[in-house]
Amino acid sequence: MSFKIGSIPHPSRNGSINSTQSSTKSQSPENVQVAVRCRPMSASEARGQREVCWDIDTTLNSIVIAEGFERQNRARHKYRYDRVLYGSDNFRIYDDNVAKLVNSTMEGYNGTVFAYGQTASGKTYPITGTHNEPGVIPRAVNDVFEYIKANSTREFLLRVSYLEIYNEAIHDLLSPGTQDLKIHEDKQRGVYVSPLKEEVLTNAKQALKVIQKGEENRHVSTTNYNLHSSRSHTIFRMIIESKEREPNASTQTHRDRSTASNAKSTIRISQLNLIDLAGSEKATTNLDRQKEGAFINKSLLTLGTVISKLTDSKGASHIPFRDSKLTRILQPSLSGNARVAVICTISPVMTSMEESMNTLKFAERVKLVVTSAKTNEILDDKALLQQYRTEISSLKAKLEAGNDLLAQQQMAQEDIMQAEKRKRCFYYSTKDKCATWSLFVQP
Ligand SMILES: Nc1ncnc2c1ncn2[C@@H]1O[C@H](COP(=O)(O)OP(=O)(O)OP(=O)(O)O)[C@@H](O)[C@H]1O
Ligand SMILES: [Mg+2]
Repeated sequence: MSFKIGSIPHPSRNGSINSTQSSTKSQSPENVQVAVRCRPMSASEARGQREVCWDIDTTLNSIVIAEGFERQNRARHKYRYDRVLYGSDNFRIYDDNVAKLVNSTMEGYNGTVFAYGQTASGKTYPITGTHNEPGVIPRAVNDVFEYIKANSTREFLLRVSYLEIYNEAIHDLLSPGTQDLKIHEDKQRGVYVSPLKEEVLTNAKQALKVIQKGEENRHVSTTNYNLHSSRSHTIFRMIIESKEREPNASTQTHRDRSTASNAKSTIRISQLNLIDLAGSEKATTNLDRQKEGAFINKSLLTLGTVISKLTDSKGASHIPFRDSKLTRILQPSLSGNARVAVICTISPVMTSMEESMNTLKFAERVKLVVTSAKTNEILDDKALLQQYRTEISSLKAKLEAGNDLLAQQQMAQEDIMQAEKRKRCFYYSTKDKCATWSLFVQP
Protein backbone atom coordinates (compact mmCIF):
# COMPACT_ATOMS: atom_id res chain seq x y z
CA MET A 1 0.00 0.00 0.00
CA SER A 2 1.33 3.39 -0.75
CA PHE A 3 1.35 6.38 1.49
CA LYS A 4 0.06 9.77 0.46
CA ILE A 5 1.07 12.75 2.51
CA GLY A 6 -2.27 14.29 1.61
CA SER A 7 -4.05 11.58 3.49
CA ILE A 8 -2.98 12.79 6.91
CA PRO A 9 -6.03 14.43 8.40
CA HIS A 10 -4.62 17.52 9.95
CA PRO A 11 -7.29 19.96 10.91
CA SER A 12 -6.27 23.32 12.19
CA ARG A 13 -8.52 25.90 13.71
CA ASN A 14 -9.00 27.89 10.55
CA GLY A 15 -9.43 24.74 8.53
CA SER A 16 -6.17 24.78 6.66
CA ILE A 17 -2.52 24.33 7.25
CA ASN A 18 0.38 25.42 5.14
CA SER A 19 2.93 22.79 5.81
CA THR A 20 6.15 24.05 4.39
CA GLN A 21 8.03 20.76 4.56
CA SER A 22 7.10 17.30 5.70
CA SER A 23 9.27 14.40 6.62
CA THR A 24 8.34 10.80 7.23
CA LYS A 25 9.89 7.70 8.72
CA SER A 26 8.34 4.45 7.51
CA GLN A 27 7.53 1.36 9.41
CA SER A 28 8.01 -1.73 7.36
CA PRO A 29 4.73 -2.89 5.79
CA GLU A 30 2.65 -4.91 8.19
CA ASN A 31 -0.59 -6.84 8.12
CA VAL A 32 -3.66 -5.72 9.98
CA GLN A 33 -3.58 -7.17 13.51
CA VAL A 34 -6.61 -9.42 13.98
CA ALA A 35 -8.04 -10.78 17.21
CA VAL A 36 -11.13 -12.97 17.38
CA ARG A 37 -13.06 -13.27 20.58
CA CYS A 38 -15.96 -15.54 21.39
CA ARG A 39 -18.04 -14.18 24.24
CA PRO A 40 -19.41 -16.41 27.00
CA MET A 41 -23.06 -17.44 26.84
CA SER A 42 -25.58 -14.94 28.05
CA ALA A 43 -27.88 -15.95 30.89
CA SER A 44 -30.74 -16.62 28.47
CA GLU A 45 -28.52 -18.70 26.19
CA ALA A 46 -27.30 -20.70 29.17
CA ARG A 47 -30.91 -21.21 30.33
CA GLY A 48 -31.67 -22.69 26.92
CA GLN A 49 -28.83 -25.14 27.68
CA ARG A 50 -27.16 -24.36 24.42
CA GLU A 51 -23.59 -25.54 24.12
CA VAL A 52 -20.59 -23.54 22.93
CA CYS A 53 -20.21 -24.64 19.35
CA TRP A 54 -16.55 -23.65 18.94
CA ASP A 55 -13.26 -25.32 19.86
CA ILE A 56 -11.00 -22.47 20.85
CA ASP A 57 -7.28 -22.81 21.42
CA THR A 58 -5.99 -19.63 23.03
CA THR A 59 -2.38 -20.90 22.98
CA LEU A 60 -2.25 -21.74 19.28
CA ASN A 61 -4.70 -18.92 18.54
CA SER A 62 -6.96 -21.12 16.48
CA ILE A 63 -10.68 -21.73 16.30
CA VAL A 64 -12.66 -24.51 14.67
CA ILE A 65 -16.27 -25.73 14.80
CA ALA A 66 -16.57 -28.14 17.69
CA GLU A 67 -17.09 -31.79 16.90
CA GLY A 68 -20.72 -32.66 16.49
CA PHE A 69 -21.60 -29.15 15.28
CA GLU A 70 -20.14 -29.41 11.81
CA ARG A 71 -22.54 -29.29 8.91
CA GLN A 72 -22.81 -32.30 6.62
CA ASN A 73 -20.08 -32.58 3.99
CA ARG A 74 -18.25 -29.57 5.36
CA ALA A 75 -14.65 -29.89 6.42
CA ARG A 76 -13.85 -28.51 9.86
CA HIS A 77 -11.65 -25.61 8.76
CA LYS A 78 -9.29 -24.37 11.46
CA TYR A 79 -8.94 -20.61 11.44
CA ARG A 80 -5.83 -18.95 12.83
CA TYR A 81 -5.42 -15.31 13.80
CA ASP A 82 -2.97 -13.15 15.73
CA ARG A 83 -5.03 -13.77 18.80
CA VAL A 84 -8.02 -15.97 19.58
CA LEU A 85 -9.74 -15.44 22.89
CA TYR A 86 -12.72 -16.62 24.84
CA GLY A 87 -14.33 -14.84 27.77
CA SER A 88 -14.73 -11.40 29.25
CA ASP A 89 -11.22 -10.15 29.99
CA ASN A 90 -10.91 -6.75 28.31
CA PHE A 91 -7.40 -6.18 29.63
CA ARG A 92 -6.03 -9.19 27.67
CA ILE A 93 -7.59 -8.07 24.41
CA TYR A 94 -6.31 -4.50 24.87
CA ASP A 95 -2.85 -5.45 26.01
CA ASP A 96 -2.26 -8.05 23.29
CA ASN A 97 -3.81 -6.24 20.36
CA VAL A 98 -4.12 -2.53 20.93
CA ALA A 99 -1.61 -1.20 23.48
CA LYS A 100 1.35 -1.22 21.07
CA LEU A 101 -0.69 0.59 18.43
CA VAL A 102 -1.73 3.28 20.94
CA ASN A 103 1.90 3.72 21.93
CA SER A 104 2.92 4.19 18.31
CA THR A 105 0.28 6.89 17.78
CA MET A 106 2.11 8.84 20.50
CA GLU A 107 5.22 8.52 18.34
CA GLY A 108 3.55 10.01 15.30
CA TYR A 109 2.01 6.99 13.53
CA ASN A 110 -1.71 6.88 12.76
CA GLY A 111 -3.67 4.06 14.37
CA THR A 112 -7.15 2.64 13.82
CA VAL A 113 -8.94 0.01 15.86
CA PHE A 114 -12.37 -1.36 15.06
CA ALA A 115 -14.66 -4.06 16.31
CA TYR A 116 -16.58 -6.16 13.81
CA GLY A 117 -19.21 -8.88 14.24
CA GLN A 118 -22.91 -9.64 14.14
CA THR A 119 -25.33 -7.91 16.48
CA ALA A 120 -24.99 -8.93 20.15
CA SER A 121 -21.70 -10.72 19.52
CA GLY A 122 -19.89 -8.33 21.89
CA LYS A 123 -18.34 -5.43 19.94
CA THR A 124 -19.28 -2.53 22.22
CA TYR A 125 -18.16 -4.59 25.20
CA PRO A 126 -14.42 -4.51 24.31
CA ILE A 127 -14.50 -0.99 22.81
CA THR A 128 -16.22 0.96 25.59
CA GLY A 129 -16.37 -1.79 28.21
CA THR A 130 -17.96 -1.70 31.61
CA HIS A 131 -17.05 -0.25 34.98
CA ASN A 132 -15.23 -3.45 36.00
CA GLU A 133 -13.88 -4.27 32.56
CA PRO A 134 -12.97 -0.96 30.89
CA GLY A 135 -12.69 -1.21 27.13
CA VAL A 136 -10.25 0.03 24.52
CA ILE A 137 -11.34 3.69 24.65
CA PRO A 138 -10.81 4.34 28.39
CA ARG A 139 -7.66 2.18 28.45
CA ALA A 140 -6.19 4.01 25.45
CA VAL A 141 -6.96 7.41 26.99
CA ASN A 142 -5.28 6.31 30.19
CA ASP A 143 -2.19 5.07 28.32
CA VAL A 144 -1.97 8.31 26.36
CA PHE A 145 -1.75 10.37 29.56
CA GLU A 146 0.70 7.87 31.10
CA TYR A 147 2.87 8.24 28.00
CA ILE A 148 2.79 12.03 28.31
CA LYS A 149 3.85 11.78 31.97
CA ALA A 150 6.76 9.53 31.08
CA ASN A 151 7.94 11.73 28.19
CA SER A 152 8.46 15.11 29.76
CA THR A 153 10.94 16.24 27.10
CA ARG A 154 8.07 16.60 24.64
CA GLU A 155 4.97 18.73 24.89
CA PHE A 156 1.63 17.44 23.63
CA LEU A 157 -1.63 18.85 22.41
CA LEU A 158 -4.55 16.41 22.37
CA ARG A 159 -7.90 16.97 20.72
CA VAL A 160 -10.83 14.59 20.40
CA SER A 161 -13.92 14.34 18.28
CA TYR A 162 -16.67 11.75 18.52
CA LEU A 163 -19.12 11.09 15.70
CA GLU A 164 -21.67 8.51 14.72
CA ILE A 165 -22.97 7.37 11.37
CA TYR A 166 -26.68 6.73 11.81
CA ASN A 167 -28.83 5.78 8.82
CA GLU A 168 -25.98 7.04 6.59
CA ALA A 169 -26.04 10.52 8.17
CA ILE A 170 -23.16 11.81 10.27
CA HIS A 171 -23.95 13.17 13.74
CA ASP A 172 -21.57 14.99 16.08
CA LEU A 173 -21.84 13.25 19.45
CA LEU A 174 -20.06 16.14 21.18
CA SER A 175 -22.37 18.76 19.68
CA PRO A 176 -25.69 17.04 19.01
CA GLY A 177 -27.46 20.01 17.37
CA THR A 178 -24.92 20.38 14.58
CA GLN A 179 -26.44 19.86 11.13
CA ASP A 180 -25.06 18.99 7.75
CA LEU A 181 -21.90 17.20 8.68
CA LYS A 182 -20.20 16.29 5.45
CA ILE A 183 -17.14 14.37 4.38
CA HIS A 184 -14.62 16.52 2.56
CA GLU A 185 -11.25 15.88 1.05
CA ASP A 186 -8.43 18.18 0.14
CA LYS A 187 -4.75 17.83 -0.49
CA GLN A 188 -3.67 19.18 2.85
CA ARG A 189 -6.17 17.57 5.22
CA GLY A 190 -7.02 14.44 3.31
CA VAL A 191 -10.45 13.01 4.17
CA TYR A 192 -12.17 14.85 7.01
CA VAL A 193 -15.62 15.58 8.44
CA SER A 194 -16.80 19.12 8.94
CA PRO A 195 -18.16 20.91 10.92
CA LEU A 196 -17.11 18.71 13.81
CA LYS A 197 -16.51 19.80 17.38
CA GLU A 198 -13.09 19.06 18.80
CA GLU A 199 -12.43 19.20 22.52
CA VAL A 200 -8.92 19.86 23.78
CA LEU A 201 -8.00 17.31 26.44
CA THR A 202 -5.89 18.20 29.42
CA ASN A 203 -6.23 15.16 31.67
CA ALA A 204 -7.64 11.63 31.73
CA LYS A 205 -10.57 12.52 33.99
CA GLN A 206 -11.76 15.28 31.68
CA ALA A 207 -11.27 12.94 28.71
CA LEU A 208 -13.52 10.32 30.28
CA LYS A 209 -16.20 12.96 30.86
CA VAL A 210 -16.05 13.95 27.19
CA ILE A 211 -16.39 10.29 26.17
CA GLN A 212 -19.35 9.79 28.50
CA LYS A 213 -21.05 12.87 27.10
CA GLY A 214 -20.58 11.48 23.59
CA GLU A 215 -21.89 8.05 24.53
CA GLU A 216 -25.04 9.53 26.03
CA ASN A 217 -25.87 11.01 22.62
CA ARG A 218 -25.38 7.80 20.67
CA HIS A 219 -28.31 5.96 19.04
CA VAL A 220 -28.89 2.79 21.07
CA SER A 221 -32.11 0.70 21.06
CA THR A 222 -33.47 -2.56 22.28
CA THR A 223 -33.71 -5.10 19.49
CA ASN A 224 -34.78 -8.72 19.29
CA TYR A 225 -31.14 -9.64 19.86
CA ASN A 226 -29.62 -7.06 22.16
CA LEU A 227 -31.03 -4.94 25.00
CA HIS A 228 -28.57 -2.12 24.21
CA SER A 229 -27.92 -2.52 20.54
CA SER A 230 -25.73 0.11 18.86
CA ARG A 231 -27.78 1.43 15.97
CA SER A 232 -24.91 3.47 14.57
CA HIS A 233 -21.20 3.19 13.84
CA THR A 234 -19.17 5.46 16.13
CA ILE A 235 -15.73 6.91 15.56
CA PHE A 236 -13.84 8.30 18.53
CA ARG A 237 -10.84 10.19 17.17
CA MET A 238 -7.92 11.59 19.10
CA ILE A 239 -5.53 13.91 17.31
CA ILE A 240 -2.10 14.02 18.89
CA GLU A 241 0.37 16.80 18.19
CA SER A 242 3.73 16.86 19.89
CA LYS A 243 7.06 18.59 19.72
CA GLU A 244 10.34 18.61 21.57
CA ARG A 245 10.09 20.94 24.56
CA GLU A 246 12.12 24.12 24.20
CA PRO A 247 14.68 24.83 26.92
CA ASN A 248 13.36 27.02 29.71
CA ALA A 249 13.29 30.62 28.48
CA SER A 250 14.83 31.96 31.69
CA THR A 251 17.92 29.77 31.28
CA GLN A 252 18.31 30.52 27.59
CA THR A 253 20.97 32.89 26.37
CA HIS A 254 20.07 35.60 23.90
CA ARG A 255 21.86 33.56 21.21
CA ASP A 256 19.79 30.43 22.07
CA ARG A 257 16.60 32.41 21.78
CA SER A 258 17.40 33.90 18.41
CA THR A 259 18.48 30.48 17.05
CA ALA A 260 15.24 28.95 18.34
CA SER A 261 13.08 31.60 16.79
CA ASN A 262 14.83 31.21 13.44
CA ALA A 263 14.53 27.45 13.41
CA LYS A 264 11.22 25.88 12.45
CA SER A 265 10.29 23.18 14.91
CA THR A 266 9.32 19.67 13.91
CA ILE A 267 5.83 18.77 14.97
CA ARG A 268 4.50 15.23 14.95
CA ILE A 269 0.84 14.83 14.12
CA SER A 270 -1.05 11.59 14.28
CA GLN A 271 -4.54 10.33 14.92
CA LEU A 272 -6.01 7.44 16.82
CA ASN A 273 -9.41 6.19 15.62
CA LEU A 274 -11.37 3.90 17.90
CA ILE A 275 -14.41 2.55 16.13
CA ASP A 276 -17.41 0.62 17.36
CA LEU A 277 -19.38 -0.69 14.42
CA ALA A 278 -23.04 -1.49 14.55
CA GLY A 279 -23.66 -5.19 13.98
CA SER A 280 -25.18 -6.97 11.04
CA GLU A 281 -28.51 -8.53 11.84
CA LYS A 282 -31.33 -10.61 10.48
CA ALA A 283 -34.73 -9.12 9.69
CA THR A 284 -36.69 -7.66 12.58
CA THR A 285 -40.36 -6.78 12.88
CA ASN A 286 -40.01 -3.18 14.13
CA LEU A 287 -40.05 -0.70 11.21
CA ASP A 288 -37.48 1.73 12.65
CA ARG A 289 -35.14 -1.13 13.50
CA GLN A 290 -35.66 -2.49 9.98
CA LYS A 291 -34.64 0.80 8.42
CA GLU A 292 -31.59 1.09 10.69
CA GLY A 293 -30.70 -2.53 10.00
CA ALA A 294 -30.84 -1.98 6.24
CA PHE A 295 -28.36 0.92 6.49
CA ILE A 296 -26.12 -1.03 8.85
CA ASN A 297 -26.08 -4.11 6.62
CA LYS A 298 -25.42 -2.06 3.49
CA SER A 299 -22.44 -0.23 4.94
CA LEU A 300 -20.98 -3.45 6.37
CA LEU A 301 -21.41 -5.06 2.98
CA THR A 302 -19.47 -2.18 1.44
CA LEU A 303 -16.77 -2.60 4.08
CA GLY A 304 -16.54 -6.29 3.15
CA THR A 305 -16.28 -5.43 -0.57
CA VAL A 306 -13.59 -2.83 0.09
CA ILE A 307 -11.55 -5.33 2.11
CA SER A 308 -11.95 -8.00 -0.60
CA LYS A 309 -10.84 -5.59 -3.30
CA LEU A 310 -7.91 -4.33 -1.25
CA THR A 311 -6.69 -7.89 -0.88
CA ASP A 312 -7.49 -9.03 -4.40
CA SER A 313 -4.30 -10.69 -5.63
CA LYS A 314 -5.01 -9.51 -9.19
CA GLY A 315 -5.14 -5.91 -7.92
CA ALA A 316 -8.58 -4.33 -8.18
CA SER A 317 -8.71 -1.21 -10.30
CA HIS A 318 -11.54 0.44 -8.41
CA ILE A 319 -12.07 0.28 -4.66
CA PRO A 320 -15.56 1.51 -3.73
CA PHE A 321 -14.60 3.58 -0.67
CA ARG A 322 -17.22 6.15 -1.64
CA ASP A 323 -20.11 3.70 -1.53
CA SER A 324 -20.64 4.27 2.21
CA LYS A 325 -19.75 6.98 4.72
CA LEU A 326 -18.03 4.40 6.89
CA THR A 327 -15.61 3.21 4.21
CA ARG A 328 -15.04 6.78 3.04
CA ILE A 329 -13.96 7.83 6.53
CA LEU A 330 -11.89 4.67 6.93
CA GLN A 331 -10.26 5.16 3.54
CA PRO A 332 -7.02 6.85 4.75
CA SER A 333 -6.45 4.07 7.31
CA LEU A 334 -7.34 1.13 5.08
CA SER A 335 -5.38 2.44 2.14
CA GLY A 336 -2.06 2.59 3.90
CA ASN A 337 -0.93 5.19 6.38
CA ALA A 338 -2.03 3.63 9.66
CA ARG A 339 -1.50 0.70 11.89
CA VAL A 340 -4.79 -1.16 12.02
CA ALA A 341 -6.10 -3.60 14.63
CA VAL A 342 -9.44 -5.37 14.28
CA ILE A 343 -11.35 -7.15 17.02
CA CYS A 344 -13.79 -9.64 15.50
CA THR A 345 -16.44 -10.94 17.84
CA ILE A 346 -18.57 -14.04 17.62
CA SER A 347 -21.41 -15.57 19.56
CA PRO A 348 -20.86 -18.98 21.20
CA VAL A 349 -24.12 -20.58 20.11
CA MET A 350 -25.10 -22.77 17.19
CA THR A 351 -28.03 -20.57 16.14
CA SER A 352 -25.52 -17.84 15.21
CA MET A 353 -23.16 -20.21 13.41
CA GLU A 354 -23.76 -18.81 9.91
CA GLU A 355 -23.08 -15.19 11.00
CA SER A 356 -20.07 -16.28 13.04
CA MET A 357 -18.63 -18.06 10.00
CA ASN A 358 -19.06 -14.87 7.98
CA THR A 359 -17.22 -12.94 10.69
CA LEU A 360 -14.36 -15.48 10.69
CA LYS A 361 -14.10 -15.17 6.91
CA PHE A 362 -14.06 -11.38 7.18
CA ALA A 363 -11.32 -11.70 9.82
CA GLU A 364 -9.29 -13.90 7.47
CA ARG A 365 -9.65 -11.35 4.66
CA VAL A 366 -8.89 -8.27 6.70
CA LYS A 367 -5.75 -10.00 8.00
CA LEU A 368 -4.39 -9.86 4.45
CA VAL A 369 -4.62 -6.07 4.28
CA VAL A 370 -1.14 -4.60 4.46
CA THR A 371 -0.46 -1.09 5.68
CA SER A 372 2.71 0.84 6.04
CA ALA A 373 2.34 3.57 8.63
CA LYS A 374 4.69 6.53 8.57
CA THR A 375 5.53 9.07 11.22
CA ASN A 376 3.89 12.28 10.22
CA GLU A 377 6.40 14.98 10.99
CA ILE A 378 5.69 18.45 9.79
CA LEU A 379 8.19 21.27 9.77
CA ASP A 380 5.67 23.92 10.21
CA ASP A 381 5.17 26.87 12.48
CA LYS A 382 1.46 26.91 11.77
CA ALA A 383 0.59 23.58 13.38
CA LEU A 384 -1.85 24.08 16.21
CA LEU A 385 0.66 23.60 18.99
CA GLN A 386 2.86 26.25 17.45
CA GLN A 387 -0.12 28.47 16.79
CA TYR A 388 -1.13 28.30 20.42
CA ARG A 389 2.42 29.10 21.57
CA THR A 390 2.68 32.05 19.21
CA GLU A 391 -0.73 33.24 20.25
CA ILE A 392 0.12 32.99 23.95
CA SER A 393 3.37 34.97 23.44
CA SER A 394 1.55 37.63 21.49
CA LEU A 395 -1.24 37.84 24.10
CA LYS A 396 1.39 38.14 26.83
CA ALA A 397 3.12 40.93 24.91
CA LYS A 398 -0.23 42.68 24.38
CA LEU A 399 -1.07 42.29 28.04
CA GLU A 400 2.26 43.79 29.06
CA ALA A 401 1.84 46.64 26.58
CA GLY A 402 -1.74 47.03 27.80
CA ASN A 403 -0.53 47.19 31.39
CA ASP A 404 1.96 49.93 30.49
CA LEU A 405 -0.75 51.88 28.72
CA LEU A 406 -3.11 51.38 31.63
CA ALA A 407 -0.46 52.60 34.05
CA GLN A 408 0.13 55.68 31.89
CA GLN A 409 -3.59 56.34 31.68
CA GLN A 410 -3.95 55.94 35.43
CA MET A 411 -1.13 58.38 36.05
CA ALA A 412 -2.67 60.89 33.65
CA GLN A 413 -6.04 60.39 35.34
CA GLU A 414 -4.50 60.99 38.75
CA ASP A 415 -2.79 64.16 37.51
CA ILE A 416 -6.15 65.44 36.24
CA MET A 417 -7.83 64.57 39.54
CA GLN A 418 -5.13 66.32 41.54
CA ALA A 419 -5.49 69.42 39.40
CA GLU A 420 -9.30 69.22 39.84
CA LYS A 421 -8.90 68.95 43.60
CA ARG A 422 -6.51 71.83 43.75
CA LYS A 423 -8.97 73.91 41.78
CA ARG A 424 -11.84 72.95 44.07
CA CYS A 425 -9.76 73.57 47.20
CA PHE A 426 -8.79 76.89 45.96
CA TYR A 427 -12.45 77.58 45.30
CA TYR A 428 -13.49 76.41 48.78
CA SER A 429 -10.73 78.23 50.53
CA THR A 430 -11.45 81.47 48.80
CA LYS A 431 -15.23 81.12 49.12
CA ASP A 432 -15.61 79.74 52.65
CA LYS A 433 -12.28 80.93 53.95
CA CYS A 434 -11.77 77.47 55.40
CA ALA A 435 -8.40 75.79 55.44
CA THR A 436 -9.06 72.90 53.10
CA TRP A 437 -5.71 72.71 51.32
CA SER A 438 -4.40 70.25 53.78
CA LEU A 439 -7.40 68.00 53.17
CA PHE A 440 -7.10 67.71 49.38
CA VAL A 441 -3.52 68.11 48.44
CA GLN A 442 -1.78 64.82 48.68
CA PRO A 443 1.96 64.41 48.49
N1 LIG B 1 -16.94 -10.87 26.28
C1 LIG B 1 -18.04 -10.66 26.96
N2 LIG B 1 -18.15 -11.06 28.25
C2 LIG B 1 -19.29 -10.84 28.95
N3 LIG B 1 -20.37 -10.24 28.45
C3 LIG B 1 -20.32 -9.83 27.17
C4 LIG B 1 -19.17 -10.02 26.37
N4 LIG B 1 -19.40 -9.51 25.16
C5 LIG B 1 -20.65 -9.04 25.22
N5 LIG B 1 -21.20 -9.23 26.40
C6 LIG B 1 -22.57 -8.85 26.80
O1 LIG B 1 -23.43 -9.23 25.74
C7 LIG B 1 -24.37 -8.23 25.42
C8 LIG B 1 -24.21 -7.75 23.98
O2 LIG B 1 -22.92 -7.19 23.84
P1 LIG B 1 -22.64 -5.87 22.99
O3 LIG B 1 -23.66 -4.85 23.24
O4 LIG B 1 -21.22 -5.53 23.20
O5 LIG B 1 -22.87 -6.45 21.53
P2 LIG B 1 -22.66 -5.69 20.16
O6 LIG B 1 -21.90 -6.63 19.28
O7 LIG B 1 -22.10 -4.35 20.37
O8 LIG B 1 -24.14 -5.62 19.61
P3 LIG B 1 -24.79 -4.51 18.63
O9 LIG B 1 -24.23 -4.75 17.28
O10 LIG B 1 -26.25 -4.83 18.68
O11 LIG B 1 -24.48 -3.19 19.18
C9 LIG B 1 -24.14 -7.12 26.44
O12 LIG B 1 -25.02 -7.33 27.51
C10 LIG B 1 -22.71 -7.34 26.90
O13 LIG B 1 -22.48 -6.89 28.22
MG1 LIG C 1 -22.77 -2.44 20.02
